[in-house]
Amino acid sequence: MRIAGLVALAFLPRLPCPEVTARPAPVACDVSTLRFVHVIWRHGDRTPSDYLPGDDPLKWPLGYGELTKVGMGQHYRLGQWLRRRYTGFLSDHFLRDEVYIRSSDYNRTLMSAQSNLAGFFPPNKDEEWSEYLKWQPVPVHTIPRETDKQLYEEIYCPAAKAELESIWKSNKAKEVEQKFKDVLKFFSEKSKIPDLQLRNVWILYDNYFCQLSNNVTWPSWLNASMFSDLSKLYNAASRLEYHTEKLRRLRGGVLLEEIISRFWSKKTRAAPKREIFRLLGPRRDDRSDSFHSRVHSSNFFPLYATALMVELHQINGENFVKIFHKNVTDSDEIYEYEIPECRPPCTLRALTDNMTRYFPVDWNAECGIVKSSNPKEEVYLVTVAFLFSTTLLFAFLWVKDKKRKPWRTYRDGSDIEMLLDEKDEYI
Ligand SMILES: *[C@@H]1O[C@H](CO)[C@@H](O)[C@H](O)[C@H]1NC(C)=O
Ligand SMILES: *[C@@H]1O[C@H](CO)[C@@H](O)[C@H](O)[C@H]1NC(C)=O
Ligand SMILES: *[C@@H]1O[C@H](CO)[C@@H](O)[C@H](O)[C@H]1NC(C)=O
Ligand SMILES: *[C@@H]1O[C@H](CO)[C@@H](O)[C@H](O)[C@H]1NC(C)=O
Ligand SMILES: *[C@@H]1O[C@H](CO)[C@@H](O)[C@H](O)[C@H]1NC(C)=O
Repeated sequence: MRIAGLVALAFLPRLPCPEVTARPAPVACDVSTLRFVHVIWRHGDRTPSDYLPGDDPLKWPLGYGELTKVGMGQHYRLGQWLRRRYTGFLSDHFLRDEVYIRSSDYNRTLMSAQSNLAGFFPPNKDEEWSEYLKWQPVPVHTIPRETDKQLYEEIYCPAAKAELESIWKSNKAKEVEQKFKDVLKFFSEKSKIPDLQLRNVWILYDNYFCQLSNNVTWPSWLNASMFSDLSKLYNAASRLEYHTEKLRRLRGGVLLEEIISRFWSKKTRAAPKREIFRLLGPRRDDRSDSFHSRVHSSNFFPLYATALMVELHQINGENFVKIFHKNVTDSDEIYEYEIPECRPPCTLRALTDNMTRYFPVDWNAECGIVKSSNPKEEVYLVTVAFLFSTTLLFAFLWVKDKKRKPWRTYRDGSDIEMLLDEKDEYI
């Protein structure tokens, strides 16, 4: 549940978040004031993430967690929809430095991005390079999951893991268990998962949901009303995840900060770079996307190939952030969100001030990644630390050079721009 420019938004509302209001918005964006866009999407229809006890792997010839043809079509159409929304903002040709696409490193998210881009950037006459193929290549960037703090929500972080552990043991979790006692018992018996825990409910829901959407017959004991109970249980369980300030900071803060920083860098220089559009391929998506789940005011998990759009608008010299959610697959429905932390007109300044608390100052330290007993990991950490300090050193020299401006200044975005340039090396 968790979007690169958009990321920040996921954090804004708390869940459950009755104060978040949403109102229908037109598909076409007001491009006259638009300056920069971050789009964060979820992948399309896929096979189940993991198998159930006693499952026959042949049921899913594509393998587990893989994008299906249905999913490819959903993303292709989302790409066409984005093209419609941002017509007049983006050039009608694909310009390599205008758009940046970044995906997490999964087959399904990379393939979703590629399907999307086929719909988003069909070649113009003069871009065609084959008379048979109405398609042009568009670069999709990724980094290994082990280093992906922006998009890989399960990246190694002991403090976040411990926090989640305590959520599963909390009274809130016990209340949910109590409320759904009978449902848990039923599914535990039928699916042969003894002692079914809240934290494992997703795997059942995921499998039966994927069977339903891919026309794979359910086991004879499962009917629509029991599946509906399972959905309610699943939604209640996933709402517990990423519920705390700490988890938002550790699991989503890096992306949020990046999005907001990028807005600042866009704002302070007339045209620092031509880049005006960032597409963020889905994060882990499946169970508890901390982004989507935060913005989503309903209690349901984000649907396939839906997107969160975080836009920077400039009106009379002032910068505003607007958040939109296209929350229904293959539909023109789109909603503008108001977040309690930044009521419209939400200025970039106000949003930044309120969100700073989610920006990790030293993510590694906050995660408790200090020393590892695993020698391989230690070498890795030392290497990362070395690279990091070298980068810092160079950055420091550079800053000094640039009239000794402070490192993290949002009021004067020029340093952020620099920070991002450094980061771009590995983003
Ligand atoms: C990608 O697909 C291959 C072949 O099915 C599979 O072995 C691999 O685990 C998948 N990798 C990811 C990251 O999804
Ligand atoms: C499942 O069956 C429905 C109804 O027959 C059909 O419209 C749909 O395309 C099928 N889906 C898949 C993934 O085969
Ligand atoms: C669905 O299954 C449950 C549990 O087996 C059963 O109690 C219920 O009557 C069934 N509902 C329908 C509509 O068949
Ligand atoms: C989409 O969002 C709107 C506004 O929050 C909500 O009323 C609607 O139920 C959502 N649709 C789905 C399918 O979640
Ligand atoms: C952020 O916004 C919330 C809701 O309006 C408010 O209660 C809180 O004090 C704000 N925090 C900061 C640091 O501005």
